Formats: sequence, structure tokens, C-alpha cells
Amino acid sequence: MRTDLPAAAAPVIADDPYSDANLADPYPLFDRMREAGPGVWLEKYGVPAFARFDACKDILDDHATFISGAGAGPKNLHHEPSWRPQGIMESDPPVHTAMRHAIGGVISPKGTRALRGQFQEFADELVERMLQLGGFDAATDFAQEFPLRVFGDAVGIPREGRAENLLALGAMNFSTFGPDDERSKEFFRRGAGTNDWAMANTARERLAPGSMGAQIWDYADRGEITAQQAALLVRAMLSAGLDSTILAIGNTMLCLARHPGQWAKVHANPRLARFAIDESFRFESPFQSFFRTTGRPVSFHGLDLAADTKVAVFVGAANRDPRRWGPDADEYKVERQAGGHLGFGMGIHQCVGQPISRLEMEVLFTTLAQRVKAIELTAEPVPFLHNTLRGWDSIPVRIVPA
Ligand code: HEM
Repeated sequence: MRTDLPAAAAPVIADDPYSDANLADPYPLFDRMREAGPGVWLEKYGVPAFARFDACKDILDDHATFISGAGAGPKNLHHEPSWRPQGIMESDPPVHTAMRHAIGGVISPKGTRALRGQFQEFADELVERMLQLGGFDAATDFAQEFPLRVFGDAVGIPREGRAENLLALGAMNFSTFGPDDERSKEFFRRGAGTNDWAMANTARERLAPGSMGAQIWDYADRGEITAQQAALLVRAMLSAGLDSTILAIGNTMLCLARHPGQWAKVHANPRLARFAIDESFRFESPFQSFFRTTGRPVSFHGLDLAADTKVAVFVGAANRDPRRWGPDADEYKVERQAGGHLGFGMGIHQCVGQPISRLEMEVLFTTLAQRVKAIELTAEPVPFLHNTLRGWDSIPVRIVPA
């Protein structure tokens, strides 16, 4: 209803971005949202939403006006309880600053480089296994296998129970960044007990010596963070670092299978693998949308927003905005300068784990580029429908050895 409008000028969008059809193919609606105006009003949810690149980036860059402490979903955690203790993503300075310093210290360029050898070893093994199979499901046999092994080992948690708990945990956790609907409730049903499993494995004695998880606890020993914050940071790695990378690997595989000419370029020059990956973060962003809350009244891209207003930020739409990426924004091009996309967010909450995901994927896709001449889809992929994340449940492919 227009009477609910926070700003008289906001164009109303009646479509539901979280319907099955729009989640399966979000881009036509994203286009309409961007074209309707700098900010729009999502009628079904009664919230302002932003889909253009500039507005989304401006929100993420201004953490004082657009705060995270009231939650990264539509629920306002200043007024309603969170389903679990709030972690780094749902905090503002100064709480955020101390936690970010600790996790940023552990996921340093030097620490990340040290992981390359073990990532390479498993990439060789996995690509060889896929070559032996010839045909496989790139979403499950390939994308899931890699981070479950190498990222789990890097954090230092036991191998047993990872697959059963961490996939469901990530999907449940990120469903709180979108509406509390039937879909989200189903992810909560499937994720029952997984948060307890993760918390049990954040304990210092469960973590391998020298692992990233163990290094977080060193910050607690030095008094730079509390013991509770250390546990929450290890939990953040486990709940934020796995599904995201798995979906990103699957999305990249699908982009490359659907664009054989682009794969031919990567195969001819495996150094392009890292650009192909960055372009897939832009083109099929694993995180499509999340929320901020205004910390003060603000006039923003044509909308007058009262303090304590939830705003939806559609980074998946911003990453397809022709105003930023040009008229070919809807094309997948490995040689594009995709740097600066919002797939990892922006500002003080920009993904702290991105060096690890990037390294995992660079090692995996470079290995694939060296050994595989062609990637072909053998059946239609099946989309993974989730209110925040974008990816695929199944990507049946065949690969041709070089
Ligand atoms: C391709 C994989 C990944 C994607 C697409 C991704 C995406 C994102 C995005 C969009 C944000 C910003 C959220 C916001 O602004 O509210 C974020 C934050 C974060 N990510 Fe990632 N992420 C990925 C991998 C990882 C990994 C591997 C880790 C674990 C080490 C991780 C840990 C975090 C944490 C702890 C934050 C919160 C940072 C803060 O609030 O300061 N992410 N991620």
C-alpha cells in the first residue's frame, strides 16, 4: 500500500523477488527493479530495496548510517531476539573492530599462501578422480568435495560430521538474511542441531594445532578478544565459509560449461582462471541480497528513510547493472575487468574469508584448465532455491581430457 511508503517517490514493485520463479531466474526482475528507479519499494515485504550498483555500494561503504548490528536480514534484532548469539556480521564498531582484527590477522595473505600446497594436493586428486569418471555432477561430486576437505582441514575441525552438519548449517544461517517464509523454515528444519555441532567444534581442544581455528584462540589468550568472541569467530568461519565457496565453484563450472568459447580461452591460458572466477562472482553472485538498518534518518538516492528502517541490498542485481558494467553486463566474459564487484560485499564487513575462497578456486580451476579441454552439460542443471544464496543442486557435466 502506498501509504506505507517511506518516500512518496519510491516506485512500487509488486513482484516477489523471493518466489520460486524469481529465485530460479532473478535477472529479469532485477532489471525491472533497476529501471524503476534508484530505490524501489517491495510491496509484499514493506521495505525499500536497492538494486543499482551505486546505491548498493554507497550503502555498504557507509556502515555508520547503514548498520549491521540490527541484523543482516529483514528482522530487526534491536527489537526481536536473534536465533543465536550475534556474531561479526551482525555487529558494528567497536565490537566489530576487535573481532575483525583477530579474524583478519588469521586470514592474512601470508597465512593464506601457506595453504596453497595442501589445496594443490587435493585439487590434483579430485581433478584426476573426475577425469576417471568422465561424467559427474559438478555440484555434488566436485564443488562440494573440495571445500569440505581443504577448508575444513584449514580451519582445523575433525573430518567426521562435516558434510552432514556444515552444508545444512550454512543454508540455515543464510536463510535468516531473507524473509522468514516456508522456504526459510524448511532450511531451519534441515539444520536442526547443526549449530550445536559447530559450536562444539569451535572449542580449542577440538581444533588442530596451528590451524586457523586454533590461531583465533591465540587472540583470546592475549586478551585481544573474549573467549566467547573466539568461539563466535570460529563459528563464523564454519557457517560462512563453506556453502558460499561450494556454490561459487558450482556457479563457475556452470558458467564455463555454458560458455565453451570462454573455457577454450582459459584452457589455452590457465592464468585466466582467476579472472574467470572473478567474473563468475559478478555474473552469478553466490550472495544475492541481504539487509542493513538505518542508524539515523537519511535522504538516500531519492528516498527519505526514517531511522531504524530496514533496507534490502540486492548485490546480485548491482553486479549486473549496465550503468556500471556496460551494455554487455548480462554476458559472461572471462577477460572482463570484473574487479570491484559486490559479490564479497564492500566496506568494513567485506568478506574477510575471500583470500581463502579465491585461493581454493584458483588452485582448483587452474588445475582443471591444465588437464581438461572441454566441459559439457549433459542435462539441465537443477537450481538450489534459497532466499539469500544462488547456486545449483545439480550440474550434470562431462569433461574431455586435454
Ligand atoms: C565465494 C565464497 C564467499 C562469498 C561469496 C562470501 C561473501 C560474503 C559477503 C557478501 C560478505 C558481506 C556480508 C555483509 O556485508 O553483511 C561476507 C562477509 C564475511 N565472510 Fe564471506 N564469502 C565467502 C567466503 C568466505 C569464507 C571462506 C569465509 C571464512 C573464513 C568467510 C567469512 C566471512 C565473514 C567472517 C564475514 C563477516 C565479515 C565482517 O562482518 O567483517 N567468507 N562474505
